[in-house]
Amino acid sequence: MSDPFNSTSEIFVACPIRIAPYLYKEIINLGYTVEEETPTGIKLIGTMQDCIRLNLSLRTAYRVLFFVKKFYARNANDLYKEIRKIEWENIIPNDGYFTVQSFANNETINDSRFPALRTKDAIADRFVEIYRKRPNSGAEKSGAAVYIHWEEEQVNVYIDTSGATISKHGYRKMPFKAPMIEGLAAATILASEWNMLTPFVNPMCGSGTLAIEAAMMAANIAPGLIRDNYAFMHLVGYEDSFFIKERLALKKLVKTTIPSKIIASDHNGMAIDAAKHNASEAGVAHLIEFQECDFRTTKIEENAGVVIINPEYGARLGDQTELENTYKSMGDFFKQNCKGYHCFVFTGNPELAKKIGLKASRKIEFYNSTIDCRLLKFEMYDGTKRERFKEPTV
Ligand SMILES: C[S@@+](CC[C@H](N)C(=O)[O-])C[C@H]1O[C@@H](n2cnc3c(N)ncnc32)[C@H](O)[C@@H]1O
Repeated sequence: MSDPFNSTSEIFVACPIRIAPYLYKEIINLGYTVEEETPTGIKLIGTMQDCIRLNLSLRTAYRVLFFVKKFYARNANDLYKEIRKIEWENIIPNDGYFTVQSFANNETINDSRFPALRTKDAIADRFVEIYRKRPNSGAEKSGAAVYIHWEEEQVNVYIDTSGATISKHGYRKMPFKAPMIEGLAAATILASEWNMLTPFVNPMCGSGTLAIEAAMMAANIAPGLIRDNYAFMHLVGYEDSFFIKERLALKKLVKTTIPSKIIASDHNGMAIDAAKHNASEAGVAHLIEFQECDFRTTKIEENAGVVIINPEYGARLGDQTELENTYKSMGDFFKQNCKGYHCFVFTGNPELAKKIGLKASRKIEFYNSTIDCRLLKFEMYDGTKRERFKEPTV
């Protein structure tokens, strides 16, 4: 690649497993044509400017990769030789810093760190040959970034244009217990099909991630408006004029008021403090009503919308018997207080989910890190239609 800022290439927007359908929708909504959806991401064709746009706007993506080269490598020596042939001097500045990450499923590789190390060596050795100087490299994702995907004997080399993952949206300065990663919270809201006009209620809000993501969506605040450093800024040929112009355009789209009411509640005052702090970092504190209370007494708007609860599910937190009561009370709360609402529970514990005592109309699959989770949907009719409450069958 002679100049990454004047090339068109394949872009692979990576995401955690089970998030791709939501990422797909986001990418289509940005006006792009998708070439392929895979379980771990979306392929499209574009330029580095498109990568900048995607980094700034996407809520559910993990990172944006710009394809450089593919080749066959039987082992780490082949990998080294092929990596060294790439014109890295056109990609990474000679006085710059870079990091390498890799995925390898190759029978000769036992240590998953080895391909990244050999890639680093190959790039550094090429620089020594050309400039007689070794570039700085390390694990820190603050500069240029390279990503190697090695499946059997096929290697794909990418410029990682994100660096630190973009599934963290940068506003969570005060985490509380077991916070959801922001990209997952955004995907959960997209899965709920909330229309951004009706109320959005998030009892057990913890550090506020779901309510904050909902407010950012409703107010059209792109996650990139909060973040200042991306790996694409550390590539040869980068000029900040395009980035500044794009950010300005996104800023102009931000709404100061929204039609929907967003409510976040938690019984722990420290959680509410954290949620308020994080919401203010995200610029949405004025759009959320915070209530410090038990979830059973959360004050809900009459006109129905969406309720999403992410309770503790025992994997990391919470006592089992107390949790069983909490899950049972969630079912009662939905029945008594949330008539007409679409209610959702995000949980990684199917046994506890049975205690809710309502029949889920959908069970949407997610992972929270490595925990197999479900977003359970309960449609609460408002009494004018036949009520659907049945014995526990979740
Ligand atoms: C798993 S955390 C939620 C994490 C949140 N989704 C986030 O991203 O930060 C569960 C939260 O439920 C709250 N909680 C537990 N029992 C509650 C209850 N009975 N009433 C209100 N909040 C409760 C806890 O204080 C905790 O903040």
